[in-house]
Amino acid sequence: MTSHTVPVDPFDLVIFGGTGDLALRKLLPALFRRFCDGQIPAGARILGVARDERSDAAYRELVSDALARASVDTLKPRVAEFLELIGYRTLDASRGEGWDAFAAELAAADATRVRVFYLSTSPSLFVDICERLRAAGLNDTRSRVVIEKPIGRDLPSARAINDAVGHVFEEGQIFRIDHYLGKETVQNLLALRFANALFEPLWNSAHIDHVQITVAETVGLEKRASYYDGAGALRDMVQNHLLQLLCMVAMEPPATLQADAVRDEKLKVLRALKPVDAANANASTVRGQYRAGAANGQAVAGYLDELGRNDSRTETFVALKAEVGNWRWGGVPFYLRTGKRLAERVSEIVVSFRQVPHSIFNGAGGPIAPNKLVLRLQPDEGVKLWLMIKEPGPGGLRLKRVALDMSFAEEFGVHQPEAYERLLMDVVRGNATLFMRRDEVEAAWTWIDPILAAWAAGNEAPKAYTAGSWGPSAAVALIERDGRTWHEDAH
Ligand code: BG6
Repeated sequence: MTSHTVPVDPFDLVIFGGTGDLALRKLLPALFRRFCDGQIPAGARILGVARDERSDAAYRELVSDALARASVDTLKPRVAEFLELIGYRTLDASRGEGWDAFAAELAAADATRVRVFYLSTSPSLFVDICERLRAAGLNDTRSRVVIEKPIGRDLPSARAINDAVGHVFEEGQIFRIDHYLGKETVQNLLALRFANALFEPLWNSAHIDHVQITVAETVGLEKRASYYDGAGALRDMVQNHLLQLLCMVAMEPPATLQADAVRDEKLKVLRALKPVDAANANASTVRGQYRAGAANGQAVAGYLDELGRNDSRTETFVALKAEVGNWRWGGVPFYLRTGKRLAERVSEIVVSFRQVPHSIFNGAGGPIAPNKLVLRLQPDEGVKLWLMIKEPGPGGLRLKRVALDMSFAEEFGVHQPEAYERLLMDVVRGNATLFMRRDEVEAAWTWIDPILAAWAAGNEAPKAYTAGSWGPSAAVALIERDGRTWHEDAH
């Protein structure tokens, strides 16, 4: 056993919404992988909770099917052992029955055992579940609660959720998941920035021209109409994932990796974002909605057809220009874009350095392209550094743009862990560095709300784009107006 596979002490993990999509598709396969890695001891208990009656055996079968779908083939021999940790309890947050017995069962374990309550349910149930946990005496100091986005749909509703959960649990017990923070490459940003002396001296407006953050998806609505149509890309992706990525790029070096040291720095970035509101929303944001087109070579319907309605103005694409108004970043635009039904599934952060101040090459081999550092979050996780070199051979000194390319798969030859693996184990260990603190979530909404308000007041329909394209042409214009282009050569 290597030091990174040391098991934690036995714990109880209760998944509310245990039969739901997130639990079966992501959480349980992630736990299984960590079990196979030797991090989860045999004495741990993982309990799925939902409203309907179901036996332990029936739930285990559901979990076993989910694991089979989660391509864990090589680990198959360990499935039976893992299923022994799994149980199922019927509980309804709107009714008191069963909660005392449930509390007694958990209390029967040793007195120091960590308890994690993962609320993998609709946010409308967060408050009721927390209140039930409190009434059953399950909110003591060894308990932790995990909540997923959406944490509200604007600042007031986010505050209401935070107040209600905060009424039952202390802030230190609340783990707000943004699964992008668990992605390997995002953690790697910490390593890249703070375990290398090379980048930090350059990491500022004197040397960086601009930053691009793209999270492009090929999927469409995916049977999530009731949630997604009420949210849209700005709330669904930008308020959380893209802003968190921006924070990881832009924050000052924290003094330690301790949760509050990192979160204090991220919070400062969110608070330093220059407002985008009615005065500049038109120039700084683009909203799009996909029309019929293609995805992965197949014809696909437009958003409104998928939705079965004609009147939705929900954006499935956003591009925007943000600016962090502080000494380090003044004048450096952060271009963010995300959308559904785009040409490719690719998420990346591109840090574009400034042009050389003077060229001695007199145009040999074409213009000198500025250096770029590209962090690929998915697929093909890795880091690329684009440089100019001399092309070998005769014919004068010809310059060529090439990438130092570090693919994690090639370098490490191992399965890239899913974000939820790291995050779930961090909750059990009580490490909140990769989770959002209340003030961060609220600061993010504080910046997002005026954009939503400006869009609502402008009363314009989102711009159409063809499924399978890179979004509306206005998104290209947004960056080209500044004399820049969206980065394309990493794929
Ligand atoms: C979720 C959004 O938070 O992230 C989804 O609600 C989106 O709309 C998903 O598809 C993307 O996550 P990933 O890990 O597949 O990039």
